[in-house]
Amino acid sequence: MHLKRINIGGVETPNNVFVAPLAGYTNSPFRVLCQSLGAGLTYTEMVSAKGLCYGSENTSELLKMTDGYSGIKAVQLFGSEPDFMRRAATDREIEPFDLIDINMGCPVPKIFKNGEGSALLADIKKAQSLVKAAKASKKAVTVKFRIGLTEEKLVTRDFAVAMEDAGADLITVHGRTRDKIYSGDVNYEQIAKAKAAVKIPVIANGGVFSRQDADRLLNETGADGVMLARGVLYNPFLIAELTNTPVADKKRLILKQIDDCYDNYDYRYSTVTLRKMLAMYLKGAHNATKLRTSLIACTSREQIVDLLFSDDYTI
Ligand SMILES: Cc1cc2nc3c(=O)[nH]c(=O)nc-3n(C[C@H](O)[C@H](O)[C@H](O)COP(=O)(O)O)c2cc1C
Repeated sequence: MHLKRINIGGVETPNNVFVAPLAGYTNSPFRVLCQSLGAGLTYTEMVSAKGLCYGSENTSELLKMTDGYSGIKAVQLFGSEPDFMRRAATDREIEPFDLIDINMGCPVPKIFKNGEGSALLADIKKAQSLVKAAKASKKAVTVKFRIGLTEEKLVTRDFAVAMEDAGADLITVHGRTRDKIYSGDVNYEQIAKAKAAVKIPVIANGGVFSRQDADRLLNETGADGVMLARGVLYNPFLIAELTNTPVADKKRLILKQIDDCYDNYDYRYSTVTLRKMLAMYLKGAHNATKLRTSLIACTSREQIVDLLFSDDYTI
């Protein structure tokens, strides 16, 4: 793929291979791993604007950045009330971040019913007021959205233009409708329509699991860059492949992820999260089922590290 820098309202990324916000996964140790593999931009997982305003402990954990965190710091917020969005965006806890993304794509019923995430696709005015509210932070503001709620109600072009008009510095278009959740084909044509309609950079998202997928998504949409999601959960080294970043020792990099996690987070959280993540990295491995069973049985840091360095664990 053609690599290029992206200017997001004055924040310049080293390249156009971004890693998506992924709830339950994109904690600081994983983002550091992605950055060491060459990712141009990574995001926290989605964080509730309201939760942040109420000082929820869970929210602070999601915003945590481990020592040695370098590169651009991007947080994703979700919410439906402009006042909470403004307060969250200007909160002390958000100060360390360079960039705020607003989630306008989450399909989960709990979020949708609150008028948050993908529900905003049906309320363009509200969506615009959320962008303006986040802009009170004076930070770069980006929006990640889907192409519509259903194929019968595609909103991509109008939504893209409305986000630009409201002050968004970049948009990411996930080329699926809400009802598809994460399955089904990605609609390249809709992403291309967004790209043709706005001057701000457009990042294309959906279904990138290989270099070929990335090339096709970029070629068919004309987008400025790609955002990888499940592809990096199965194989974070895809980032290095796309960004031509040399990788000397994959297991050493994963060991650093493990160490960063245990050194900065609760022991139980680290064990549970790392078991889940190391199991994902096994996608396609011939002995994946057996190894996943062994991983689930791990209850300590030592056991996880031993398993990673066993000859059986091939990545
Ligand atoms: C486990 C999981 C968690 C996700 N969490 C978020 C999130 O916090 N914020 C967000 O905007 N999208 C989230 N998404 C959506 C992804 O960022 C991405 O848009 C979607 O997976 C499509 O890309 P893909 O086909 O390459 O996986 C999540 C997806 C998955 C599978």
